[in-house]
Amino acid sequence: MNRRHFLTASAFAGTWCLLSPRARALGANEDLRVAVIGFNSRGKAHIDSLLKAKGARLVALCDADSAVLDKTADELAKKGTVVAKYGDYRKLCESKEVDAVVIATPNHTHTLIAMTAAANGKHVYVEKPVSHNVWEGRQLAEAQAKYKVNIHHGFQRRSETCWEDALEWLKEGQIGRMTLARGFCYKPRPSIGKIGAPAKPPATVDYDLWSGPRELLPVKRTKFHYDWHWQFPYGNGDLGNQGPHQLDVCRWAIGDPALPKAVLSVGGRVGYEDDGDWANTQLVWLDYDPVPVLFEVRGLPKKGVDYKSGSDAFKGESIGNVIECEGGWLAGGHSAGCEVFDKDGKVVKEFKGTKSHMQEWIDAVHSGKQRSIHSAESGHLSAALAHIGNISWRTGADAPMDKIRSAFADPAKEAIDRLAKHLEANGVDPAKTPLKLGAALAVDAKAERFTGPGAEAANALLKGDYRKGFELPL
Ligand SMILES: NC(=O)c1ccc[n+]([C@@H]2O[C@H](COP(=O)([O-])OP(=O)(O)OC[C@H]3O[C@@H](n4cnc5c(N)ncnc54)[C@H](O)[C@@H]3O)[C@@H](O)[C@H]2O)c1
Repeated sequence: MNRRHFLTASAFAGTWCLLSPRARALGANEDLRVAVIGFNSRGKAHIDSLLKAKGARLVALCDADSAVLDKTADELAKKGTVVAKYGDYRKLCESKEVDAVVIATPNHTHTLIAMTAAANGKHVYVEKPVSHNVWEGRQLAEAQAKYKVNIHHGFQRRSETCWEDALEWLKEGQIGRMTLARGFCYKPRPSIGKIGAPAKPPATVDYDLWSGPRELLPVKRTKFHYDWHWQFPYGNGDLGNQGPHQLDVCRWAIGDPALPKAVLSVGGRVGYEDDGDWANTQLVWLDYDPVPVLFEVRGLPKKGVDYKSGSDAFKGESIGNVIECEGGWLAGGHSAGCEVFDKDGKVVKEFKGTKSHMQEWIDAVHSGKQRSIHSAESGHLSAALAHIGNISWRTGADAPMDKIRSAFADPAKEAIDRLAKHLEANGVDPAKTPLKLGAALAVDAKAERFTGPGAEAANALLKGDYRKGFELPL
Protein backbone atom coordinates (compact mmCIF):
# COMPACT_ATOMS: atom_id res chain seq x y z
CA MET A 1 0.00 0.00 0.00
CA ASN A 2 1.01 3.57 -0.63
CA ARG A 3 1.67 5.02 2.81
CA ARG A 4 1.24 8.61 1.67
CA HIS A 5 -2.26 7.75 0.44
CA PHE A 6 -3.11 6.39 3.87
CA LEU A 7 -1.89 9.49 5.62
CA THR A 8 -3.90 11.85 3.47
CA ALA A 9 -7.08 9.84 3.05
CA SER A 10 -7.16 7.76 6.19
CA ALA A 11 -8.99 7.69 9.45
CA PHE A 12 -6.72 10.31 10.90
CA ALA A 13 -7.49 13.21 8.63
CA GLY A 14 -10.13 14.92 10.78
CA THR A 15 -12.47 17.47 9.26
CA TRP A 16 -13.69 20.57 11.04
CA CYS A 17 -17.40 20.96 11.14
CA LEU A 18 -18.28 24.66 10.98
CA LEU A 19 -21.48 25.49 12.72
CA SER A 20 -24.47 26.34 10.56
CA PRO A 21 -26.08 29.72 11.21
CA ARG A 22 -29.34 27.74 11.59
CA ALA A 23 -27.94 25.34 14.20
CA ARG A 24 -28.14 26.31 17.86
CA ALA A 25 -24.76 26.95 19.48
CA LEU A 26 -24.51 24.61 22.46
CA GLY A 27 -23.22 25.86 25.78
CA ALA A 28 -20.43 23.85 27.46
CA ASN A 29 -22.80 22.01 29.80
CA GLU A 30 -25.85 21.93 27.57
CA ASP A 31 -27.34 18.70 26.29
CA LEU A 32 -27.87 18.10 22.59
CA ARG A 33 -31.65 17.75 22.17
CA VAL A 34 -32.16 14.72 19.95
CA ALA A 35 -35.12 13.19 18.09
CA VAL A 36 -35.23 9.63 16.71
CA ILE A 37 -37.01 9.14 13.38
CA GLY A 38 -38.18 5.57 12.62
CA PHE A 39 -37.97 3.03 15.46
CA ASN A 40 -39.85 -0.13 14.64
CA SER A 41 -36.63 -2.04 15.20
CA ARG A 42 -33.18 -0.43 14.75
CA GLY A 43 -34.34 2.96 16.02
CA LYS A 44 -35.21 1.32 19.36
CA ALA A 45 -31.53 0.56 19.92
CA HIS A 46 -30.79 4.21 19.18
CA ILE A 47 -33.37 5.31 21.76
CA ASP A 48 -31.66 3.07 24.33
CA SER A 49 -28.20 4.43 23.41
CA LEU A 50 -29.45 8.00 23.70
CA LEU A 51 -30.94 7.35 27.12
CA LYS A 52 -27.50 6.18 28.28
CA ALA A 53 -25.43 8.76 26.41
CA LYS A 54 -23.66 11.74 27.95
CA GLY A 55 -24.28 15.24 26.60
CA ALA A 56 -27.55 14.39 24.84
CA ARG A 57 -31.21 14.16 25.74
CA LEU A 58 -34.03 12.40 23.88
CA VAL A 59 -36.71 15.06 23.36
CA ALA A 60 -38.84 13.84 20.44
CA LEU A 61 -39.88 10.81 18.44
CA CYS A 62 -41.16 10.62 14.87
CA ASP A 63 -42.62 7.61 13.08
CA ALA A 64 -44.92 7.31 10.08
CA ASP A 65 -46.69 4.41 11.82
CA SER A 66 -48.83 5.81 14.65
CA ALA A 67 -48.94 2.38 16.32
CA VAL A 68 -45.14 2.30 16.55
CA LEU A 69 -45.04 5.94 17.68
CA ASP A 70 -47.66 5.64 20.42
CA LYS A 71 -46.37 2.32 21.77
CA THR A 72 -42.77 3.53 22.18
CA ALA A 73 -43.76 6.98 23.50
CA ASP A 74 -46.07 5.35 26.08
CA GLU A 75 -43.37 2.90 27.18
CA LEU A 76 -40.90 5.77 27.62
CA ALA A 77 -43.44 7.91 29.51
CA LYS A 78 -44.00 5.02 31.96
CA LYS A 79 -40.25 5.09 32.67
CA GLY A 80 -40.31 8.86 33.14
CA THR A 81 -39.11 10.08 29.74
CA VAL A 82 -41.76 12.27 28.15
CA VAL A 83 -41.11 13.21 24.52
CA ALA A 84 -42.83 15.23 21.82
CA LYS A 85 -44.50 13.06 19.15
CA TYR A 86 -44.40 13.67 15.40
CA GLY A 87 -45.82 11.71 12.46
CA ASP A 88 -44.32 14.06 9.86
CA TYR A 89 -40.53 14.38 9.76
CA ARG A 90 -40.87 17.77 7.98
CA LYS A 91 -42.62 19.29 10.97
CA LEU A 92 -40.07 17.77 13.33
CA CYS A 93 -37.21 19.20 11.24
CA GLU A 94 -38.72 22.69 11.62
CA SER A 95 -38.91 22.44 15.42
CA LYS A 96 -36.77 24.88 17.39
CA GLU A 97 -36.82 22.42 20.30
CA VAL A 98 -34.66 19.86 18.49
CA ASP A 99 -30.92 20.18 17.71
CA ALA A 100 -30.22 16.82 16.08
CA VAL A 101 -31.92 13.76 14.59
CA VAL A 102 -31.16 10.04 14.39
CA ILE A 103 -32.69 8.40 11.30
CA ALA A 104 -33.58 4.69 11.12
CA THR A 105 -36.31 4.69 8.49
CA PRO A 106 -36.21 2.45 5.37
CA ASN A 107 -33.31 3.08 2.96
CA HIS A 108 -35.28 5.04 0.35
CA THR A 109 -35.94 7.88 2.82
CA HIS A 110 -32.50 8.08 4.51
CA THR A 111 -31.01 10.81 2.33
CA LEU A 112 -34.26 12.76 1.95
CA ILE A 113 -34.84 13.01 5.71
CA ALA A 114 -31.15 13.57 6.47
CA MET A 115 -30.93 16.45 3.99
CA THR A 116 -34.22 17.96 5.16
CA ALA A 117 -32.87 17.93 8.72
CA ALA A 118 -29.48 19.33 7.66
CA ALA A 119 -31.13 22.11 5.65
CA ASN A 120 -32.94 23.05 8.88
CA GLY A 121 -29.66 23.26 10.79
CA LYS A 122 -30.01 19.91 12.57
CA HIS A 123 -27.06 17.58 13.12
CA VAL A 124 -27.71 14.11 11.72
CA TYR A 125 -26.94 10.47 12.53
CA VAL A 126 -28.25 8.52 9.53
CA GLU A 127 -28.36 4.75 9.35
CA LYS A 128 -26.55 2.75 6.72
CA PRO A 129 -26.77 2.70 3.79
CA VAL A 130 -26.90 6.51 3.96
CA SER A 131 -28.45 6.51 0.49
CA HIS A 132 -30.72 4.44 -1.73
CA ASN A 133 -28.69 5.30 -4.83
CA VAL A 134 -25.31 6.77 -5.80
CA TRP A 135 -26.58 10.19 -6.88
CA GLU A 136 -28.38 11.01 -3.67
CA GLY A 137 -25.44 9.74 -1.59
CA ARG A 138 -23.24 12.31 -3.34
CA GLN A 139 -25.80 15.04 -2.56
CA LEU A 140 -25.72 14.02 1.11
CA ALA A 141 -21.91 14.04 1.19
CA GLU A 142 -21.99 17.61 -0.10
CA ALA A 143 -24.79 18.66 2.26
CA GLN A 144 -22.42 18.37 5.22
CA ALA A 145 -20.25 21.27 4.00
CA LYS A 146 -23.21 23.15 2.50
CA TYR A 147 -25.33 23.19 5.65
CA LYS A 148 -22.36 23.20 8.08
CA VAL A 149 -23.75 20.51 10.33
CA ASN A 150 -22.37 17.18 11.48
CA ILE A 151 -23.70 14.27 9.36
CA HIS A 152 -22.61 10.94 10.88
CA HIS A 153 -23.18 7.60 9.15
CA GLY A 154 -24.42 4.39 10.79
CA PHE A 155 -21.39 2.17 10.04
CA GLN A 156 -20.58 1.44 13.68
CA ARG A 157 -17.43 -0.60 12.83
CA ARG A 158 -15.81 2.84 12.40
CA SER A 159 -16.02 3.32 16.16
CA GLU A 160 -14.63 -0.14 16.95
CA THR A 161 -11.09 0.55 18.05
CA CYS A 162 -10.19 -3.11 17.41
CA TRP A 163 -10.62 -2.60 13.65
CA GLU A 164 -8.88 0.75 13.64
CA ASP A 165 -5.90 -0.64 15.57
CA ALA A 166 -5.76 -3.80 13.46
CA LEU A 167 -5.83 -1.91 10.16
CA GLU A 168 -3.09 0.44 11.40
CA TRP A 169 -1.02 -2.59 12.35
CA LEU A 170 -1.51 -4.18 8.92
CA LYS A 171 -0.56 -0.91 7.28
CA GLU A 172 2.83 -1.12 8.95
CA GLY A 173 3.43 -4.18 6.78
CA GLN A 174 3.58 -6.55 9.77
CA ILE A 175 2.35 -9.51 7.69
CA GLY A 176 3.46 -8.26 4.29
CA ARG A 177 1.69 -6.50 1.47
CA MET A 178 -2.11 -6.55 1.37
CA THR A 179 -3.41 -8.54 -1.62
CA LEU A 180 -7.21 -8.81 -1.36
CA ALA A 181 -9.97 -7.38 0.85
CA ARG A 182 -12.79 -9.89 1.26
CA GLY A 183 -16.22 -9.23 2.73
CA PHE A 184 -18.90 -11.80 3.57
CA CYS A 185 -22.61 -11.65 4.15
CA TYR A 186 -23.52 -15.31 4.61
CA LYS A 187 -26.71 -14.40 6.46
CA PRO A 188 -29.80 -16.64 6.41
CA ARG A 189 -32.66 -14.95 4.56
CA PRO A 190 -35.70 -17.20 4.20
CA SER A 191 -38.45 -16.51 1.66
CA ILE A 192 -40.67 -13.51 2.47
CA GLY A 193 -43.66 -15.36 0.99
CA LYS A 194 -45.78 -14.54 -2.02
CA ILE A 195 -49.08 -12.74 -1.67
CA GLY A 196 -52.00 -13.48 -3.98
CA ALA A 197 -53.00 -9.90 -4.70
CA PRO A 198 -51.48 -6.51 -3.84
CA ALA A 199 -52.42 -5.42 -0.32
CA LYS A 200 -53.09 -2.15 1.46
CA PRO A 201 -50.63 -0.70 3.98
CA PRO A 202 -51.56 -1.10 7.66
CA ALA A 203 -54.22 1.44 8.70
CA THR A 204 -51.83 3.01 11.24
CA VAL A 205 -49.22 3.85 8.56
CA ASP A 206 -49.17 7.22 6.80
CA TYR A 207 -48.29 5.67 3.44
CA ASP A 208 -47.66 9.04 1.80
CA LEU A 209 -44.87 9.79 4.29
CA TRP A 210 -43.63 6.19 4.35
CA SER A 211 -43.33 6.14 0.53
CA GLY A 212 -41.63 9.55 0.52
CA PRO A 213 -39.94 10.00 -2.86
CA ARG A 214 -41.50 6.81 -4.30
CA GLU A 215 -44.94 6.55 -5.94
CA LEU A 216 -47.71 5.17 -3.69
CA LEU A 217 -47.36 1.61 -4.98
CA PRO A 218 -49.69 -1.27 -4.05
CA VAL A 219 -48.06 -3.24 -1.21
CA LYS A 220 -46.62 -6.50 -2.55
CA ARG A 221 -45.40 -8.21 0.60
CA THR A 222 -46.99 -9.90 3.59
CA LYS A 223 -44.90 -8.23 6.28
CA PHE A 224 -45.10 -4.47 5.76
CA HIS A 225 -42.14 -3.41 7.92
CA TYR A 226 -38.61 -4.72 7.35
CA ASP A 227 -39.31 -6.87 4.24
CA TRP A 228 -39.11 -3.75 2.02
CA HIS A 229 -35.35 -4.48 2.16
CA TRP A 230 -35.77 -7.05 -0.63
CA GLN A 231 -37.80 -4.86 -3.04
CA PHE A 232 -36.30 -2.50 -5.63
CA PRO A 233 -38.17 0.74 -4.79
CA TYR A 234 -37.23 0.77 -1.10
CA GLY A 235 -34.33 -1.54 -0.21
CA ASN A 236 -31.00 -2.58 -1.69
CA GLY A 237 -30.98 -6.35 -1.06
CA ASP A 238 -28.49 -7.82 1.41
CA LEU A 239 -25.57 -6.45 -0.60
CA GLY A 240 -27.03 -3.06 0.39
CA ASN A 241 -28.28 -4.05 3.85
CA GLN A 242 -25.86 -6.12 5.93
CA GLY A 243 -23.34 -5.89 3.06
CA PRO A 244 -22.38 -2.22 3.41
CA HIS A 245 -21.01 -2.81 6.93
CA GLN A 246 -18.45 -5.26 5.59
CA LEU A 247 -17.92 -3.36 2.32
CA ASP A 248 -17.11 -0.40 4.55
CA VAL A 249 -14.44 -2.42 6.35
CA CYS A 250 -12.99 -3.47 2.97
CA ARG A 251 -12.80 0.16 1.85
CA TRP A 252 -11.27 1.18 5.19
CA ALA A 253 -8.68 -1.61 4.90
CA ILE A 254 -7.52 -0.43 1.49
CA GLY A 255 -7.16 3.22 2.56
CA ASP A 256 -10.62 4.72 2.04
CA PRO A 257 -10.42 5.33 -1.70
CA ALA A 258 -13.20 6.73 -3.90
CA LEU A 259 -15.05 4.36 -6.25
CA PRO A 260 -13.12 1.57 -8.01
CA LYS A 261 -12.16 1.66 -11.69
CA ALA A 262 -14.53 -1.20 -12.58
CA VAL A 263 -17.23 -3.44 -11.14
CA LEU A 264 -18.65 -6.85 -11.99
CA SER A 265 -21.35 -8.81 -10.19
CA VAL A 266 -23.21 -12.09 -10.56
CA GLY A 267 -26.21 -13.37 -8.66
CA GLY A 268 -29.82 -14.38 -8.45
CA ARG A 269 -32.80 -14.78 -6.18
CA VAL A 270 -32.68 -18.55 -5.93
CA GLY A 271 -33.92 -21.42 -3.74
CA TYR A 272 -37.48 -20.10 -3.54
CA GLU A 273 -39.92 -17.83 -5.37
CA ASP A 274 -41.29 -14.96 -3.35
CA ASP A 275 -42.16 -11.26 -3.46
CA GLY A 276 -38.53 -10.14 -3.23
CA ASP A 277 -36.78 -8.49 -6.20
CA TRP A 278 -33.12 -8.32 -5.14
CA ALA A 279 -30.61 -11.18 -5.42
CA ASN A 280 -30.30 -13.34 -2.30
CA THR A 281 -27.08 -14.85 -3.64
CA GLN A 282 -24.47 -12.56 -5.12
CA LEU A 283 -20.78 -11.99 -5.73
CA VAL A 284 -19.19 -8.63 -6.50
CA TRP A 285 -15.71 -7.82 -7.76
CA LEU A 286 -14.61 -4.23 -7.18
CA ASP A 287 -11.54 -3.51 -9.25
CA TYR A 288 -9.33 -1.38 -7.03
CA ASP A 289 -5.64 -1.01 -7.69
CA PRO A 290 -3.48 -2.36 -6.08
CA VAL A 291 -5.84 -4.18 -3.66
CA PRO A 292 -9.17 -5.37 -5.11
CA VAL A 293 -12.32 -6.10 -3.10
CA LEU A 294 -14.30 -9.34 -3.38
CA PHE A 295 -17.72 -9.51 -1.73
CA GLU A 296 -19.96 -12.56 -1.31
CA VAL A 297 -23.64 -12.67 -0.32
CA ARG A 298 -25.39 -15.95 0.53
CA GLY A 299 -28.95 -15.76 1.83
CA LEU A 300 -29.41 -19.52 1.53
CA PRO A 301 -28.17 -21.76 4.36
CA LYS A 302 -25.52 -24.49 4.23
CA LYS A 303 -27.72 -27.12 2.60
CA GLY A 304 -31.16 -28.18 1.47
CA VAL A 305 -32.65 -24.67 1.87
CA ASP A 306 -32.91 -25.81 5.50
CA TYR A 307 -32.17 -22.86 7.78
CA LYS A 308 -31.44 -25.22 10.68
CA SER A 309 -28.30 -26.29 8.80
CA GLY A 310 -26.64 -22.94 9.62
CA SER A 311 -24.58 -20.67 7.39
CA ASP A 312 -21.44 -21.26 5.37
CA ALA A 313 -18.19 -19.65 6.53
CA PHE A 314 -14.88 -18.70 4.92
CA LYS A 315 -11.83 -18.82 7.22
CA GLY A 316 -14.28 -18.77 10.12
CA GLU A 317 -16.28 -15.75 8.95
CA SER A 318 -19.96 -15.80 7.95
CA ILE A 319 -20.73 -12.11 8.37
CA GLY A 320 -17.35 -10.47 8.42
CA ASN A 321 -14.10 -9.70 6.67
CA VAL A 322 -10.94 -11.52 5.71
CA ILE A 323 -8.17 -9.13 4.71
CA GLU A 324 -5.54 -11.16 2.88
CA CYS A 325 -1.85 -10.24 3.03
CA GLU A 326 1.27 -11.97 1.71
CA GLY A 327 2.10 -13.41 5.13
CA GLY A 328 -1.37 -14.20 6.52
CA TRP A 329 -4.72 -12.54 7.04
CA LEU A 330 -6.82 -10.40 9.36
CA ALA A 331 -10.31 -11.75 10.12
CA GLY A 332 -13.23 -10.46 12.14
CA GLY A 333 -16.98 -10.47 12.24
CA HIS A 334 -19.92 -8.20 12.92
CA SER A 335 -19.00 -7.51 16.53
CA ALA A 336 -16.01 -5.84 18.13
CA GLY A 337 -12.89 -8.02 17.86
CA CYS A 338 -10.59 -9.30 15.12
CA GLU A 339 -7.58 -11.60 14.84
CA VAL A 340 -4.49 -11.88 12.69
CA PHE A 341 -3.50 -15.33 11.41
CA ASP A 342 -0.22 -16.41 9.86
CA LYS A 343 -0.09 -18.45 6.65
CA ASP A 344 -0.56 -21.68 8.63
CA GLY A 345 -3.75 -20.39 10.22
CA LYS A 346 -2.17 -19.76 13.64
CA VAL A 347 -3.44 -16.71 15.55
CA VAL A 348 -0.53 -14.28 15.92
CA LYS A 349 -2.32 -11.22 17.25
CA GLU A 350 -5.73 -10.25 18.63
CA PHE A 351 -7.42 -6.86 18.65
CA LYS A 352 -10.25 -5.98 21.01
CA GLY A 353 -12.16 -2.88 22.02
CA THR A 354 -14.88 -0.55 20.86
CA LYS A 355 -16.38 2.85 21.48
CA SER A 356 -20.04 3.79 21.30
CA HIS A 357 -20.77 5.04 17.78
CA MET A 358 -23.64 7.16 19.16
CA GLN A 359 -21.41 8.75 21.82
CA GLU A 360 -18.73 9.45 19.19
CA TRP A 361 -21.35 11.42 17.23
CA ILE A 362 -22.58 13.36 20.26
CA ASP A 363 -19.02 14.22 21.31
CA ALA A 364 -18.18 15.30 17.76
CA VAL A 365 -21.19 17.63 17.64
CA HIS A 366 -20.17 19.20 20.96
CA SER A 367 -16.56 19.64 19.87
CA GLY A 368 -17.42 20.91 16.39
CA LYS A 369 -14.87 18.46 14.99
CA GLN A 370 -15.70 15.34 13.03
CA ARG A 371 -13.39 12.52 12.04
CA SER A 372 -13.43 11.87 8.29
CA ILE A 373 -14.10 8.17 8.96
CA HIS A 374 -17.51 9.14 10.41
CA SER A 375 -18.43 11.63 7.70
CA ALA A 376 -21.24 11.68 5.15
CA GLU A 377 -18.57 11.39 2.42
CA SER A 378 -17.26 8.18 3.93
CA GLY A 379 -20.79 6.81 4.44
CA HIS A 380 -21.69 7.67 0.86
CA LEU A 381 -18.64 5.99 -0.71
CA SER A 382 -19.06 2.72 1.20
CA ALA A 383 -22.81 2.61 0.45
CA ALA A 384 -22.05 3.36 -3.20
CA LEU A 385 -20.00 0.15 -3.46
CA ALA A 386 -23.20 -1.81 -2.83
CA HIS A 387 -25.14 0.35 -5.27
CA ILE A 388 -22.69 -0.09 -8.16
CA GLY A 389 -22.50 -3.84 -7.49
CA ASN A 390 -26.28 -3.99 -7.67
CA ILE A 391 -26.33 -1.92 -10.87
CA SER A 392 -23.89 -4.31 -12.55
CA TRP A 393 -26.16 -7.20 -11.53
CA ARG A 394 -29.40 -5.52 -12.61
CA THR A 395 -28.08 -4.64 -16.06
CA GLY A 396 -26.74 -8.15 -16.74
CA ALA A 397 -28.22 -11.26 -18.38
CA ASP A 398 -28.71 -14.94 -17.45
CA ALA A 399 -25.57 -16.98 -18.12
CA PRO A 400 -24.26 -20.53 -17.64
CA MET A 401 -21.70 -21.13 -14.84
CA ASP A 402 -18.72 -21.63 -17.18
CA LYS A 403 -19.35 -18.26 -18.81
CA ILE A 404 -19.71 -16.68 -15.37
CA ARG A 405 -16.43 -18.22 -14.19
CA SER A 406 -14.50 -16.99 -17.21
CA ALA A 407 -15.86 -13.44 -16.81
CA PHE A 408 -14.12 -12.96 -13.43
CA ALA A 409 -10.47 -12.23 -12.59
CA ASP A 410 -8.41 -14.98 -10.96
CA PRO A 411 -9.02 -14.57 -7.21
CA ALA A 412 -12.77 -14.49 -7.87
CA LYS A 413 -12.80 -17.75 -9.88
CA GLU A 414 -12.19 -19.73 -6.67
CA ALA A 415 -15.19 -17.92 -5.10
CA ILE A 416 -17.33 -18.81 -8.13
CA ASP A 417 -16.36 -22.48 -7.66
CA ARG A 418 -17.43 -22.31 -3.98
CA LEU A 419 -20.63 -20.57 -5.04
CA ALA A 420 -21.41 -23.42 -7.47
CA LYS A 421 -20.94 -25.97 -4.63
CA HIS A 422 -23.14 -23.87 -2.32
CA LEU A 423 -25.94 -23.83 -4.91
CA GLU A 424 -25.62 -27.58 -5.43
CA ALA A 425 -25.83 -28.18 -1.65
CA ASN A 426 -29.12 -26.26 -1.67
CA GLY A 427 -30.46 -28.21 -4.66
CA VAL A 428 -30.32 -25.15 -6.95
CA ASP A 429 -29.45 -26.17 -10.51
CA PRO A 430 -28.01 -23.13 -12.35
CA ALA A 431 -28.94 -24.79 -15.66
CA LYS A 432 -32.63 -24.55 -14.68
CA THR A 433 -32.45 -21.44 -12.46
CA PRO A 434 -29.63 -19.46 -14.07
CA LEU A 435 -27.74 -16.74 -12.27
CA LYS A 436 -27.56 -13.33 -13.90
CA LEU A 437 -24.05 -12.34 -14.97
CA GLY A 438 -23.82 -8.61 -14.45
CA ALA A 439 -22.47 -6.12 -16.94
CA ALA A 440 -18.71 -5.54 -16.63
CA LEU A 441 -18.79 -1.79 -16.02
CA ALA A 442 -15.97 0.74 -16.14
CA VAL A 443 -16.33 3.50 -13.54
CA ASP A 444 -15.25 7.13 -13.74
CA ALA A 445 -14.56 7.44 -10.00
CA LYS A 446 -14.34 11.23 -10.05
CA ALA A 447 -17.65 11.73 -11.86
CA GLU A 448 -19.24 8.74 -10.04
CA ARG A 449 -20.64 7.54 -13.36
CA PHE A 450 -20.15 4.54 -15.61
CA THR A 451 -18.31 4.79 -18.92
CA GLY A 452 -17.91 2.49 -21.95
CA PRO A 453 -20.01 -0.55 -22.86
CA GLY A 454 -23.18 -0.91 -20.80
CA ALA A 455 -22.83 2.59 -19.33
CA GLU A 456 -26.08 3.99 -20.68
CA ALA A 457 -28.32 1.42 -18.99
CA ALA A 458 -26.19 1.49 -15.85
CA ASN A 459 -26.12 5.29 -15.54
CA ALA A 460 -29.92 5.31 -15.72
CA LEU A 461 -29.91 3.46 -12.36
CA LEU A 462 -27.60 5.88 -10.55
CA LYS A 463 -30.49 8.09 -9.50
CA GLY A 464 -33.99 7.33 -8.19
CA ASP A 465 -37.25 9.13 -8.93
CA TYR A 466 -38.40 11.84 -6.51
CA ARG A 467 -42.13 12.39 -6.14
CA LYS A 468 -43.38 15.97 -6.03
CA GLY A 469 -43.05 17.32 -2.51
CA PHE A 470 -40.32 14.81 -1.68
CA GLU A 471 -37.45 16.17 -3.79
CA LEU A 472 -34.09 16.56 -2.04
CA PRO A 473 -33.48 20.08 -0.71
CA LEU A 474 -30.50 20.84 -2.98
N1 LIG B 1 -26.34 -0.12 11.82
C1 LIG B 1 -26.94 -1.29 12.01
O1 LIG B 1 -26.32 -2.22 12.54
C2 LIG B 1 -28.36 -1.49 11.58
C3 LIG B 1 -29.08 -2.60 12.06
C4 LIG B 1 -30.41 -2.76 11.65
C5 LIG B 1 -30.99 -1.85 10.77
N2 LIG B 1 -30.26 -0.79 10.31
C6 LIG B 1 -30.87 0.17 9.37
O2 LIG B 1 -31.92 0.85 10.04
C7 LIG B 1 -32.98 1.14 9.13
C8 LIG B 1 -34.32 0.71 9.71
O3 LIG B 1 -34.32 -0.69 9.84
P1 LIG B 1 -35.49 -1.46 10.62
O4 LIG B 1 -35.15 -2.89 10.59
O5 LIG B 1 -35.73 -0.79 11.91
O6 LIG B 1 -36.73 -1.17 9.62
P2 LIG B 1 -38.31 -1.25 9.92
O7 LIG B 1 -39.00 -1.26 8.62
O8 LIG B 1 -38.58 -2.35 10.89
O9 LIG B 1 -38.61 0.13 10.70
C9 LIG B 1 -38.60 1.37 10.05
C10 LIG B 1 -39.47 2.34 10.84
O10 LIG B 1 -39.40 3.62 10.18
C11 LIG B 1 -40.72 4.15 10.10
N3 LIG B 1 -40.79 5.06 8.96
C12 LIG B 1 -40.84 4.76 7.65
N4 LIG B 1 -40.87 5.88 6.89
C13 LIG B 1 -40.88 6.92 7.76
C14 LIG B 1 -40.91 8.32 7.59
N5 LIG B 1 -40.95 8.87 6.37
N6 LIG B 1 -40.90 9.09 8.69
C15 LIG B 1 -40.87 8.55 9.94
N7 LIG B 1 -40.83 7.21 10.15
C16 LIG B 1 -40.83 6.41 9.07
C17 LIG B 1 -41.61 2.93 9.93
O11 LIG B 1 -42.96 3.21 10.23
C18 LIG B 1 -40.95 1.95 10.89
O12 LIG B 1 -41.45 2.11 12.18
C19 LIG B 1 -32.64 0.44 7.82
O13 LIG B 1 -32.22 1.36 6.86
C20 LIG B 1 -31.50 -0.50 8.18
O14 LIG B 1 -30.58 -0.63 7.11
C21 LIG B 1 -28.97 -0.59 10.72
